[in-house]
Amino acid sequence: MAQPGPTSLALPGQQICLRRPDDWHVHLRDGALMQAVVAATARQFARAIVMPNLTPPITTAAAAAAYRQRILAALGPKLAAGFQPLMTAYLSDSLQPQELIKGQAEAIFYAAKLYPAGATTNSAAGVRDLATIAPLLETMERIGLPLLVHGEVTDPAVDIFDREAVFIERQLLPLLARHPGLKVVLEHITTAEAAACVAEAGPQLAATITPHHLHINRNALFAGGLRPDFYCLPVAKRERHRLALRAAATSGDPSFFLGTDSAPHGRQAKEAACGCAGIYNAPYAIESYAAVFDQEGALDKLEGFASEHGPRFYGLPLNRGVLTLERQDPQSEQAVTVPLRLELGQAGDESLALVPFHAGEALPWRLR
Ligand code: NCD
Ligand code: ZN
Repeated sequence: MAQPGPTSLALPGQQICLRRPDDWHVHLRDGALMQAVVAATARQFARAIVMPNLTPPITTAAAAAAYRQRILAALGPKLAAGFQPLMTAYLSDSLQPQELIKGQAEAIFYAAKLYPAGATTNSAAGVRDLATIAPLLETMERIGLPLLVHGEVTDPAVDIFDREAVFIERQLLPLLARHPGLKVVLEHITTAEAAACVAEAGPQLAATITPHHLHINRNALFAGGLRPDFYCLPVAKRERHRLALRAAATSGDPSFFLGTDSAPHGRQAKEAACGCAGIYNAPYAIESYAAVFDQEGALDKLEGFASEHGPRFYGLPLNRGVLTLERQDPQSEQAVTVPLRLELGQAGDESLALVPFHAGEALPWRLR
């Protein structure tokens, strides 16, 4: 997956310092799995937009505040002091506008997430028809609470590889026109159509881009056999889409920013007759993005994408700390290599065994 890039002749030991980044889309889960994964995010990122698709989903400010407490408790005092979970509400047909107003006023909700019902993991309680949630969207527009969108139609007649592009035409563009003051993030974009739509739209619309959609195309899912660790939603698309996403991420356009969509599932959930969608990329996320920006000759654009565009869109201050990346020679014996498998529970506990993205690879940049 790692390709030689224009700067691949640069010397090992070279360093870059970045303003501390944020992850604008992450799944931290709950319970034992949360305990196992949350530090990987907090070690790299100062803040993270935490997705609400738990079972049951996070639909009240009180539930979000309690979840935030569990996240901070799981981190322990040292990591918790340097990490701010930004909570989100799960939009459903029965959610009341008052709950969003309350959650925002209490500085608990930083956004609300739209899962079209049936689109992805734990989306059954999501929204069937956007018309039903018009009062919620009007409220969000008025109070400045961003709408985060899983942008795929669920119509089984639409080919799975077309579901994002069709969502943009059928749902997103009319939604933006109906709510011109609503801030919208099209999450984890996977297509050239999405990148173009976001680049052309005004400041109302932004997008997150994951590391995996910048590294893999849909061939990865079938390379030598069925590869569940490369299955996520929206599913990776053709190579031309990956290239369009790389161009968007490294363009310097403030509408594009970092959101890992790190979505851990234990082995038994991934390697099953009906395996779950989700790629666990949190442990080497910034290294993964750095590899892409390096290969594109755009390391000077990494800080904007990782640390500046997101806070500006959300109207939050930039972080003050820094993070240092050091170039390594991936061929060298000392190179940090991504483990093939992380055993995060007791030996043999498959629910806490995770295969990280880039398993077995040495990336060209490592975190100091
Ligand atoms: C996510 C998950 O597992 O929660 N899975 C994924 O493939 N991205 C849900 C989501 O963001 O669609
Ligand atoms: Zn997600």
